[in-house]
Formats: sequence, structure tokens, C-alpha cells
Amino acid sequence: MEKIFLDILRPDDWHVHLREGEILSSVLPFTYENFRSALIMPNLDAPITNISLAENYYNEIRKQIPRGIEFTPNMTLYLTNDLSKNEIEKVSNHEYIKAIKMYPKGATTNSDLGISDFKDFHHLFEVMEESGVILSIHGEVTDEKVDVFERESVFIEEVLTKIIEQFPNLKIVLEHITSADTVKFVNEQSMVAATITIHHLMVNRNIMLSKGIRPDFYCAPILKTEYDRRALVQAAISGNGKFFLGTDSAPHVAGKKIASCGCAGIFSSPLAIPLLIQLFEEHSSLEKIELFMSRNGRAFYGLRQHKDRVRYVKRSKSIEVIKDIKTSEGKITVFNPNGEIYWEKEN
Ligand code: NCD
Ligand code: ZN
Repeated sequence: MEKIFLDILRPDDWHVHLREGEILSSVLPFTYENFRSALIMPNLDAPITNISLAENYYNEIRKQIPRGIEFTPNMTLYLTNDLSKNEIEKVSNHEYIKAIKMYPKGATTNSDLGISDFKDFHHLFEVMEESGVILSIHGEVTDEKVDVFERESVFIEEVLTKIIEQFPNLKIVLEHITSADTVKFVNEQSMVAATITIHHLMVNRNIMLSKGIRPDFYCAPILKTEYDRRALVQAAISGNGKFFLGTDSAPHVAGKKIASCGCAGIFSSPLAIPLLIQLFEEHSSLEKIELFMSRNGRAFYGLRQHKDRVRYVKRSKSIEVIKDIKTSEGKITVFNPNGEIYWEKEN
């Protein structure tokens, strides 16, 4: 068989959870080996709420990157009342802190410090708008009266449209979008871009729930319908600069996921790129994958494009791949809904 290659600029992951301590050490290699840079989320047990904490976390990550590996951790700050205007102005010129992350209180892992009323943050949005700092948003309402499948759409209707109305020049990344309606909404807003995860591109709520419950596919925001999944795929393979990869790889050990009250989060960084290549290949769209994985995010964040490239090669038989990683607190399952993986990085 003729060898099939894919040569692209090294990809970025615009949304990843690396955690800390032993989990950080166990999951970090999958990010620095596969990606040229990543945007690291701030929802640690003690959230990263200011520049000094972000700098410490950055140094902790940097220490664990072997010499010779080119990888840039870009950091985020968790939006709370502790943030000052002055701090945000500093972020606008910061070498590696690239966004402020807004979590609605109670929306997901470690979001107790999240916000209850976005109006409390108007003074900060104003500075962000003026200084060009990006607001990264977990777009879900957490009102228990709102159905879990409607949390994103109600957030857009009741919160996001108001923020956009009042701060029309604020640059926003709506994270891990999940539905056809959200794709349409993002397309209509000039200052809004969106990350899309591998899991929202590959699985739907039927796969999660219809033949027994699949806790490894449980994440926030929750998976939506097949119709929604297809709309996300169309957005990703379109090459449209508004959409780019954010894996939202979010490791939780098995004991916490497969429990009577299991955690939301899917650990996807190990196989993210081969899975994505296969998806784009199935849709005859490999020529667009570099936009989605490597270029669009950097362009939206106003960063120079990387120069270093990577080659992926397609094997004629499916290759042996990692199924989980082990930690002292238990194993963490690697997202791989297909089973069969044909593509791998050429060394
Ligand atoms: C993430 C986590 O576990 O940190 N979980 C998830 O289901 N995506 C948090 C988040 O991004 O919502
Ligand atoms: Zn996340």
C-alpha cells in the first residue's frame, strides 16, 4: 500500500485541564508530545485566581517539560471578585497569560468560586474590552429549574447576549460548544469564536445513554443529539476561523467517574489528534484540519503562527493504543470511542 501522510503545523489545544500533583505529571506528557501549545484551565482545587498563582502554576508545568521539547503552556485566570482592573491590564501585556475564564457558580468541576451574577463583573469586562483581553466562557446556566440539555442555550439567551450587547468589542471564546443552535449563534457574532472538543464531534447523548450508561462519555456541557453533533462536525471541517480545537481533556480517576455521583470530564489528550484526523478523513476534509487544529485559534488569540511542523502517517492496520493511565488514586480512561486507530505521529 502506498504510504499516506499528513504534514501540518504542530497543533494547539485551546482548552485543557492538567490538574496538579501526580495527575499533572501523569497527563502532561500527552499534551506536550502532541501539541505545540495549550491553554491551561484554572479550575484547580484551589483555583488560579490571580497572576501570581498563574505564574507559579506555569513554573510547575514548565519544570516538567523535558529539554528539547518545544511546548508553550498558555495560562488562564479564574474570574472572581479578587481580580482587579490593574491585574487585568497586566494580563493584556503578559507573556503567557492569555485569557480570563468565567465559570458560572456550580457549573462544573471546582466551580464553587464561579460567578452568580455577571453584572458584578461589568467593571472588569470594560477593562478587558479596552485592553483586548479575551474572556473565555463556560457557557451554561446552573439554575436547577433549567433542564440540563438546555443549559447552554439558556445561557446564550439570558447571559451571553447581554454581555455582547453591553461590551460589543469584548473578544469572547465560547468554550466546548455543543449544539447546532450554538454554531449558528457563534457564526452571527463578530467578536465570538468557539472551541470544539473531540468528544462533542464524535459521540452523542444516545451513545452515552441508550445501551447502558457510559460514565466515560459524561462531561459538561452534556452531549447533545446526533443532529447537533453533525452541525459541530460541519463547523470544524469548514475551516471557518471562528472554530478551533479545545479538547477539554479533563482527567478524573475511575473511582470518581464510575460512582453513584460521578464527575463530569473526559480524558482525551492521548488520542485526540489521531481521532480528529480520522474524523476529517471520513469527511474528505483533511485539507482543512490544519486550520481547525493549528491556525484558527492562534489567529483569534492574535498570536504568531508556529513554524514547526509534524508528520502523521496512516498505517494499513489499526495500531496498539493506550487504553488508560494508572495513578496511585486509580486509573484514568483514555477517550477512544472507535477502538481502531490508524494514524500516528511519525518520529
Ligand atoms: C471539566 C473538569 O473536570 O475540569 N469537566 C468537564 O466535564 N468538561 C470542567 C469543564 O470544562 O467543564
Ligand atoms: Zn474544561
